[in-house]
Amino acid sequence: MITTIDEERGEVIVKTGDSETRYSLSTAEGFAAASRAWVRATWDSKYVYSFAWMGRPIIQLPEDMVRLQEVIWDLKPDVLVETGVAHGGSLIFYASLFEAMGKGRVVGVDIEIRPHNRQAIEAHPMKKRIDLIEGSSTAPDVLAQVKALIKPGETVLVVLDSNHTKAHVLDELRAYGELIGIGSYVVATDGIMAQVKGAPRTGDDWDWNNPLTAIHDFVAEDKRFIVEEPAFPFNEGVVTGRVTYWPDAFVKRIA
Ligand SMILES: C[S@@+](CC[C@H](N)C(=O)[O-])C[C@H]1O[C@@H](n2cnc3c(N)ncnc32)[C@H](O)[C@@H]1O
Repeated sequence: MITTIDEERGEVIVKTGDSETRYSLSTAEGFAAASRAWVRATWDSKYVYSFAWMGRPIIQLPEDMVRLQEVIWDLKPDVLVETGVAHGGSLIFYASLFEAMGKGRVVGVDIEIRPHNRQAIEAHPMKKRIDLIEGSSTAPDVLAQVKALIKPGETVLVVLDSNHTKAHVLDELRAYGELIGIGSYVVATDGIMAQVKGAPRTGDDWDWNNPLTAIHDFVAEDKRFIVEEPAFPFNEGVVTGRVTYWPDAFVKRIA
């Protein structure tokens, strides 16, 4: 796919094979085409490795965190469980929202919490809202530890951001889907892998071995779940789709 942005005419031109389509940048389609190219640039340039939240590195496209914040405010979960801690920035982000909201706890699971990351998270003012569990997110003893931190009747939101192979994300969806109630979500991140295959630091199997295929298989096998984009709570523009590393990430429990 070749995307050309003509700022003088306010157009984006998308060429796929022999076909060429022009969109005005003022349309949702034009915005989506330009955004797709921009997201590819954020991948190639490692732009998402340039942010911190309250002092801790957070490896996310900021727009994904702002959109997730909209869901957190709307759902007001008692517990947010995230698999994949890394430097802890995303845990601190959720905990800081909960601190401002006056309710909510965070459970972070990682197969390896490096000593310097653990030390920084434990010294952080938001740590009072965070529990850390070290181990593989799908290991039975880890799942038991997560469950033990959730009280009956609590509203739980889950974010999956650990190992992004199809098999692991599918196992996580099956396990963590059981933790959430009707109306809540398991957010399976980083389905962008399919879209950036061929770019630097990508694998040959990323077209199928990614969270997106796991999400689609999971909702096909378990009818209690659907993929549902949370609507933007405020929108005076023409765009209704997220600019995201997380396509189709919001897996909602409906039964
Ligand atoms: C993309 S990083 C997480 C980024 C973090 N959520 C953030 O927003 O800054 C992925 C993390 O998943 C962890 N990980 C990999 N395999 C895992 C597994 N099987 N279970 C739990 N964590 C795993 C890695 O150690 C790594 O820290």
